[in-house]
Amino acid sequence: MKRSWAEPYKMKMVELLKTTTRAHRLKAIQKAGYNTFLLPSEDVYIDLLTDSGTNAMSDRQWSAFMTGDEAYAGSKSYYKMEETIQECYGYKYVIPTHQGRGAENILSQVMIKKGQIVPGNMYFTTTRVHQELAGGKFADIIIDEAHDSTSLHPFKGNVDIGKLDALVKKHGADKIAYVSLASGVNMAGGQPFSMENLKALRTFTKKHKIKIIHDMTRVGENAFFIQEREPGYKNKSIRQIVLEICNLTDGATMSAKKDALVNIGGFMATNDPKVYEEATNLVVVYEGLHTYGGLAGRDMEAIAVGIRESLDDNHQRARIGQVHYLGNKLIEMGIPIVLPIGGHGVFLDAKAFLPHLDQEQFPAQALAAEIYVDSGVRSMERGIVSAGRKPNGENYHPQLELVRLTIPRRVYTQAHMDVVAESVEAVFEKREKIRGLKMVYEPKYLRFFQARFEKV
Ligand code: F0G
Repeated sequence: MKRSWAEPYKMKMVELLKTTTRAHRLKAIQKAGYNTFLLPSEDVYIDLLTDSGTNAMSDRQWSAFMTGDEAYAGSKSYYKMEETIQECYGYKYVIPTHQGRGAENILSQVMIKKGQIVPGNMYFTTTRVHQELAGGKFADIIIDEAHDSTSLHPFKGNVDIGKLDALVKKHGADKIAYVSLASGVNMAGGQPFSMENLKALRTFTKKHKIKIIHDMTRVGENAFFIQEREPGYKNKSIRQIVLEICNLTDGATMSAKKDALVNIGGFMATNDPKVYEEATNLVVVYEGLHTYGGLAGRDMEAIAVGIRESLDDNHQRARIGQVHYLGNKLIEMGIPIVLPIGGHGVFLDAKAFLPHLDQEQFPAQALAAEIYVDSGVRSMERGIVSAGRKPNGENYHPQLELVRLTIPRRVYTQAHMDVVAESVEAVFEKREKIRGLKMVYEPKYLRFFQARFEKV
């Protein structure tokens, strides 16, 4: 007999949304230079731009807010957050930051020496930019299947140890700053790595005295897939699996705005007292004292509660259940999406959706704009615009040219997902008419946030 997933919570307060006309949206997207980042959120109906900072907090998080200790130094709330991270994630030393990229900045500056290589399981935009600004050079060591939207590999976040071995052989282990390992690999479509792969990576890196730094932004979602798909993990809890992952790594950066169910916040963590000491000093330059790192006491309280809620099996089952509900609907409609469906969103394959457009005409950017005009659903480009330029100025040409429909946690209903799927289907039906774009303004860093386009 079928047993459906459902949310392990009910609604106590709602936020009213505005609906708009197609004519209004057409004007809005033109004004935004065909970049969904530049739309005022008032003009958006269902906001699937990102799952970052867009989560709904629980009643327990809101009540924890009231207990925030706003002392400049030694806030009680800091110690509560630190204790939660030590207990749930197992890292020894914790430094709060205003969000994930704050942690990436500090960690990169402390751990990368100029000219070193930073191998990682696919790039992430802010992570790579901080590695480059610190003098490092990113090298992609994810398995080839991750770059293929049709591959059904269950762990497309896995590291190809052979690629890492080749880097070590070519440059020597001391030229490797550390391995940058993301759980729930964002740019691959929210794809997990397996515990087996992580264990093999740990064995290899131990032998060569290379550290593993874990981008644990979506670690709970990665753990859910290990529980579902990996032999031996069916009877382990998400909480146990998460701790096991963290224990196989040496340090972490985290954007608490995702898995940890808050609207702002992050941290870096390490087991190395020397890294901690240097980072403790650097954080006062960029973020704030090491016991608040750019956060209010109340934010740290909400993170402490949010981390525990994120490790609940029923939470992850419903969260990923909703993402898969949308993904499966789109598959039934014959829409090309990244397979298998990932953890934090559904990724449309814009190359397959708009085969008549060249990648230089920004198919994913054009598709995101079109979906917005159709229904007021906001999504995000994750293709050539996001990939940016190499340090030598050439465009990266990522194999994956995607539109991300990212699902905020505990925010939208199944009916919202139906509306999204129907809108994508409507756009799919008239896909041949969709024209490409040209970039008319390009900022120097992380261009996807602020670039502007016109129709060709
Ligand atoms: N690492 C990963 C894997 C991320 O997805 C993000 C943010 C960061 C680091 C940086 O964290 O935003 O708190 O500074 N991703 C957001 C997204 C922006 O929409 O995917 P941040």
